[in-house]
Amino acid sequence: MAKAPVLIIHGGAGSRKLRGESLMHFQQSLLAIVEKVYPRLRSGASAVEAVTLAAACLEDDPLYNAGRGSKIQSDGKIRMSAALMDGSRRRFAGCVNVEGLRNPIRLARALLNKRDRVLSGPGAKRFAQDLGLTFRSPFTAERRREFLEQRPGKTGTIGALALDRQGHLAAATSTGGRGQEFPFRVSDSATVAGCFANKNCAVSATGVGEEIVESAAAATICAWVEAGIGLNESVERLLSGARRRKAQFGLIALNERGEYTAATTTKNILWAAAGPHGIVCLRE
Ligand code: GLY
Repeated sequence: MAKAPVLIIHGGAGSRKLRGESLMHFQQSLLAIVEKVYPRLRSGASAVEAVTLAAACLEDDPLYNAGRGSKIQSDGKIRMSAALMDGSRRRFAGCVNVEGLRNPIRLARALLNKRDRVLSGPGAKRFAQDLGLTFRSPFTAERRREFLEQRPGKTGTIGALALDRQGHLAAATSTGGRGQEFPFRVSDSATVAGCFANKNCAVSATGVGEEIVESAAAATICAWVEAGIGLNESVERLLSGARRRKAQFGLIALNERGEYTAATTTKNILWAAAGPHGIVCLRE
């Protein structure tokens, strides 16, 4: 029997509570993306296609630190990373520190059926060029200002999770990194700590990459859910350990029953979701 599909997306976790107009901008953007992608999932698109499209929309919106609007590394260059995991086939693909690509998530999607599924730097760029993927400058005036003033900015990594009508799960994560980092630093986003899915669970993380990796966040939650531990219990167990270590990150998680959660050790995580219950998003 066809399942009721579910989509959940995030636009990063932050250390400041967003209120009023700045929260409203994010809410409007997240809801518009969910409203665009969810009908496709309801009409039969696969979870992999839905998370790819949702992540590409988030990458195209300069509000977020992914694709256009990515943060700038300490040598003045933008290098982006993205990953995609198909839970039903347990397949992971990603790109690390790729420059100038409009949608790093589309490169991860193209790599999902290849033998070599994670590419970095110039190799990732060459592969994307050979495929004819679109290149576009990711620099925005706001990120240049933040870079010159050495401000961290308000926005974070993006991610998307979907459960499709076949009951398959997928996860996508994409980032411009931490900003001001040593050139070619590798973030969590294109690792199994920042993006993971199996038959029972999908997770996308956002926050301080090193701390997400040290918690092995996404893969650990998915393994616990696969072993029969509840979704909320798995997320809480992982985040309470992270809180004890004062780690700063958040995540979204979705299981094969369509239950989902957004949780963080920081002040907030920006998220929106659509499912049989309707469309909802983070409130103040
Ligand atoms: N989570 C993104 C990063 O730390 O680069």
